[in-house]
Amino acid sequence: MELLFVILAIALGIQVAVVFLLVSKYFETRFSYVIWWTAGAALLAGQALVEVWMLTAAPILPLVGIRSALLLAGAGFFLTGTASRDPRARGIVQTGLLGFGGLVIASVIVLLSRQESTDTARLVAGLAAGMAFLLTAEAYRRTEQILDDVATRAVFAGLLAIGINQIGWAWVQRTPQVIAASEFLGGLAVAVFGAGIQLRSVGRAQRLVVLSQISAALSRTGRVGDMLEEVLHQAGRLLQLHTGWAFLHDPVTGTYELAAAFQLPPGFEHDDRKALHGSCRCLDLLQANELTQPVNIVDCMRLDRLGVKARHASVPLRTTTGVVGLMNLVLPSGRLFSQRELALLSTVGSEVGVAIERSQLLDELQDKERLRSDLIKKLLTAYEDERRRIARELHDETGQSLTALILNVEMLRNLVEQGRGASVDELDRLKALAEATLEEVRKMIYDLRPTILDDLGLAAALRWYVHHQVEPRGLVVGLKLELGDARLDPVLETAVFRIAQEALWNTVKHAAATRVDVALALSDGRLRLRVKDNGRGFQDKRRSGNPLAGGAGLGGMEERATLLGGTVRITSAPATGTEVVAELPLPAPAA
Ligand SMILES: Nc1ncnc2c1ncn2[C@@H]1O[C@H](COP(=O)(O)OP(=O)(O)OP(=O)(O)O)[C@@H](O)[C@H]1O
Ligand SMILES: [Mg+2]
Repeated sequence: MELLFVILAIALGIQVAVVFLLVSKYFETRFSYVIWWTAGAALLAGQALVEVWMLTAAPILPLVGIRSALLLAGAGFFLTGTASRDPRARGIVQTGLLGFGGLVIASVIVLLSRQESTDTARLVAGLAAGMAFLLTAEAYRRTEQILDDVATRAVFAGLLAIGINQIGWAWVQRTPQVIAASEFLGGLAVAVFGAGIQLRSVGRAQRLVVLSQISAALSRTGRVGDMLEEVLHQAGRLLQLHTGWAFLHDPVTGTYELAAAFQLPPGFEHDDRKALHGSCRCLDLLQANELTQPVNIVDCMRLDRLGVKARHASVPLRTTTGVVGLMNLVLPSGRLFSQRELALLSTVGSEVGVAIERSQLLDELQDKERLRSDLIKKLLTAYEDERRRIARELHDETGQSLTALILNVEMLRNLVEQGRGASVDELDRLKALAEATLEEVRKMIYDLRPTILDDLGLAAALRWYVHHQVEPRGLVVGLKLELGDARLDPVLETAVFRIAQEALWNTVKHAAATRVDVALALSDGRLRLRVKDNGRGFQDKRRSGNPLAGGAGLGGMEERATLLGGTVRITSAPATGTEVVAELPLPAPAA
């Protein structure tokens, strides 16, 4: 008898411990279903206590009634809590309530009508509670969808075992030994359930640690390669990875290249990590857009080639615009990532993707900043060069002409003083000299800023520029200016004139072309300029990663257009020449 009490005390102790565990889980998580489970476990413990009590006293009916009621209520609480976790399990709640409620009513009727039969009451209550636990286990499985880790399996198995334990003993004649055995097995099942709950919370805490460490790593480092290296290192340490590596998409070559690695096996390190270059199944899937979520890749060709029998998880690194890379993580042999771990990796993958995007945007911003400051420098230099040119022209040409004019006037004055009079020829020469000087001054003024642009507008200024600067250099120009004499916003007119001037001057300077076509048109509230030559074409070096390559002309064109909310598209090929298309919106009329 003593031994039976010890066994029952152990079973009771386990149940009380699980109740305390659940209370602490509730304070940790604040999930309402944990309260239901706590209440259920407390009632089961109460039921075990009454059972112990009944061993010492005669099994009188009220005690049997109380025990059965505690058992049924406990089972009901478990079922309610579990089903309430998932709205899709409503069907189970209804079935549970109907079946379970029917059994409760049946047991009450049995208790009331056949007061002498405690065994029947036990049988009915045991069956009802057992069924309720089986339903609870099923509801839990449905909510979790997949039981692929130890924690969820333990919770499910615990609930199932409690149910089977109740149903199994319902048929057996109750002796003290049977009671002790059933309570002991029930205690064990509750212990398995409690262990599962505890493991789940450890897993949750571990996932939080992984996420926070990885977030910290992502905010610490700036370069994409270093960032991936750090993430792999953290993930490797926290998830006990065997090895791991990451590929990044190279926008220039369009291929995926190795960007970081963690604890590579010796075979991979060999020959400059040759085994990690080139295509493989996971990259093929990624490129075919079939790898959108982390998956356990069953066989890895690279690992296969090395003779390593292991599988890896492939985690796509996603940004807002698409996939930029792939992380492959290998667990020690025989272990695969559970669904929950894959979901965690999915979050990690998006976090890394966002960080990569941020870093790329920063790089882009820095490039643009560098380009802008280079343009400003070039602009200032050009400004000074222009002043130097004007000073030189004023000195060499206008100054010389005016000096010659003064000398000639002086000479004429002397002649007049000596009473010899000035000849008509000499006066004509002087006039011609003055006219040539005026022409030079006019040319300089036009070069500085064609007054025609202010006086007559964009179309007239373009026509003037073509006739005076382009055609004299041997180019045939096709002009198609569909603006008429319409006047546009002066800022817009200047910008388009300067873009056309740069495009035409580039054609003169670089294209070795024989013909250039200039078209200007207004449509849909946008001004469209197209300059197309039939010259040698070129490769825009700025597109191949160096925005500062070449002169400031192309960058300046784009900068001018961007400032006014427009675009410049440059298409060029050796066979077809160069086409510059600028599109700028007309400014909204002032309110
Ligand atoms: N129409 C064209 N045909 C052939 N090559 C061109 C043409 N336009 C530009 N290029 C090439 O692109 C390069 C960059 O042009 P960009 O206008 O930016 O500089 P640049 O004309 O050399 O100098 P800058 O305009 O600052 O005086 C040129 O050096 C030239 O090689
Ligand atoms: Mg240029």
